[in-house]
Amino acid sequence: MSEPALDFATTQSALRAAGQEHVLAWWPELSERARRRLLRQLALVDLARLPEMQAAIAALGQGKPRVLSPAPVFELASREFPYLAADGARAVAPLGEQALRRGQVACLLVAGGQGTRLGFPAPKGCYPLLPLTRRTLFEVFARKLLRVSREYGCTPPLYVMVSNQNEAETREFWATHEYFGLPAEQVQFFAQGEMPALDAAGKLVMEDKDRLFLGPDGHGGVLQALRVKGMLADLRRRGVRVVSYIQVDNAQIPPADPAFLGLHLAEGAEVSLKVVRKDDPAEKVGIFCLDDGRPGIVEYTEFSAEQAALRAQDGGLLYRAGSIAVHAFSVDFLNRLADTGVDLPLHAAHKKVPFLSPDGIAVEPAGPNAWKFERFVFDAIPLAGKVAALEVPRDEQFLPLKNADGPFGPDGFRAAYHAYWGRAVELALGKMPPAIEVDPLVAENARDLMEIIARSPAARRWDLNAPLLVTPESLAGLI
Ligand code: UTP
Repeated sequence: MSEPALDFATTQSALRAAGQEHVLAWWPELSERARRRLLRQLALVDLARLPEMQAAIAALGQGKPRVLSPAPVFELASREFPYLAADGARAVAPLGEQALRRGQVACLLVAGGQGTRLGFPAPKGCYPLLPLTRRTLFEVFARKLLRVSREYGCTPPLYVMVSNQNEAETREFWATHEYFGLPAEQVQFFAQGEMPALDAAGKLVMEDKDRLFLGPDGHGGVLQALRVKGMLADLRRRGVRVVSYIQVDNAQIPPADPAFLGLHLAEGAEVSLKVVRKDDPAEKVGIFCLDDGRPGIVEYTEFSAEQAALRAQDGGLLYRAGSIAVHAFSVDFLNRLADTGVDLPLHAAHKKVPFLSPDGIAVEPAGPNAWKFERFVFDAIPLAGKVAALEVPRDEQFLPLKNADGPFGPDGFRAAYHAYWGRAVELALGKMPPAIEVDPLVAENARDLMEIIARSPAARRWDLNAPLLVTPESLAGLI
């Protein structure tokens, strides 16, 4: 990073050298306060990154030649509901459990995104998603961690990545709800970095006379933010060995999965990931595979239609390991990246960015007008010495909330959630209730729930003609 410059002359000459002096166009008419604000903001913008940004734009047109091949994955042992994880992962789950008991696991929840597609006027984690109680995503994750802490006698610290835009609201939400029962000192918030935008002429986009447009730097910003915001030091201080990375929009994901963590440890992996099986060649999902021999995620756009449809000997797609953006990171690996100053690559995307016209008028463009820049967390995979991939069942672990409507909207989530959990009850008790919600304190997945039901006399008295809320109380103290 270049040194922050706070005085006008230094800033002006740095901007001039970078061909970006236009950001000071309104300087003469700014108040003292506005000038200070602009200088402060400019001090945080790393002009030395401009060539990297330009290169990211140029890279878009170039489609680098790729030599792809499938990568090894620990695939499900049974695809029949309620599913069975790979034998190789189940065998090492005790290692994950031991790490949880010893306090060597932390959970990293990234919640800095803008949630543009969902269009909810608050941080996405505050979305009241669950079908009966309308519990929010944040509460779901807190309760999942409470369950982990009861089971292993140790609460994994939770690191929540936010953005400058949603930090205050997120912190207040958690504080107002008293951290949903988690010990407050186990929950930490830290803001990710920001990136400016460039217009078609390569100029930094101004949002106002005293303000550059800045947006969150992508989920991949997490690696840099962990370091810059002191979270890596905190992880070390707490003796954490593995960070379980999850995204706020996927309510089905376990925040600390012993089989996944055990696999990561047993394999000596630096980065691990979860994948779901892709069956439809046209599905738009990033694929875990080898790219020139190195493991990584290759975007679906990089596959030709023929390549995407290739079949393996068992009849399934050859490239079938769809990434669901769930990872385990070794703290040693995160430290190594920090020590060597390695950053993940920047990606450019052409987006709608509000801007100030040269005559000082604020414009909300109707279509994409400028380049925004983000880093993607999966770009860490090729940097790892060893990678382990675990297949998980889609409906068990991947029901993301992305849109306002459709399969990835709230109603789509609730329908898939009902089908998944209702099926567990139907298999255990013979009838699917008309609606269902399972308190995350009770069970992490359908298999667990079915085992609990089998042991619970109270469950046999449930009214399955009415909406069913499965809570510890409904199981009469079994949990
Ligand atoms: P998405 O890429 O789906 O973006 O984020 P989003 O912000 O939720 O939604 P859109 O694209 O604006 O509609 C996947 C996960 O990564 C986090 C999000 O909070 C979500 O958990 N994320 C994304 C960040 O933490 N920071 C970012 O800069 C981008």
